[in-house]
Amino acid sequence: MHLILQHAHMLCNSNRELKNFCQFNTNLTDNNLGPTITLASSSITTTKFKSSHETFPMIEAIKKYADEANWRQTYSISEVGEDFANRHCYFELVGPNGHFYNNTIRGFVCYWGEYLKYNWHSHEAEEIYYILGGKALFKTKNMTKVLKANDTQFHKSWESHAMEILEEPLLTLILWRGNGLDKLAQIDD
Ligand SMILES: [Fe+2]
Repeated sequence: MHLILQHAHMLCNSNRELKNFCQFNTNLTDNNLGPTITLASSSITTTKFKSSHETFPMIEAIKKYADEANWRQTYSISEVGEDFANRHCYFELVGPNGHFYNNTIRGFVCYWGEYLKYNWHSHEAEEIYYILGGKALFKTKNMTKVLKANDTQFHKSWESHAMEILEEPLLTLILWRGNGLDKLAQIDD
């Protein structure tokens, strides 16, 4: 997991939007989270993600060490439907409950299968998405745009947002900061 942390750190230093959003060092306490799997996590090592030269090394590190990650899927089927629950998963790389402890920022590695729809949701923490691989249509109440590898998208506190995964699976690094860091996103009605 240390290699994945180092790649996240390098991306946060080399990408201007990520650097402006937060900074963290790699000298973090290891929470010693054990590996867990979900229905979706087993497919990640064999998925070919459409990357960029900036994101390719981190994707390779995630695939190489995927079986050491504490994969989770925390939505209920009644909230998101069975297909979404079966083909989405994430792990918390950095954060209060992550592989590496940090109480000021939280970093997730998140996966969605192709053509999944992530309905309107929100959370108190501010957020930046960084696309590692694949492509998705991102929506807020003010804009809709397609994001691909090395693109970023910022969401304000409690700003509702939604996403449609396009024809390839999506792999992202998501960073949170501010209040509500230890909470989960909620589906908006
Ligand atoms: Fe979000």
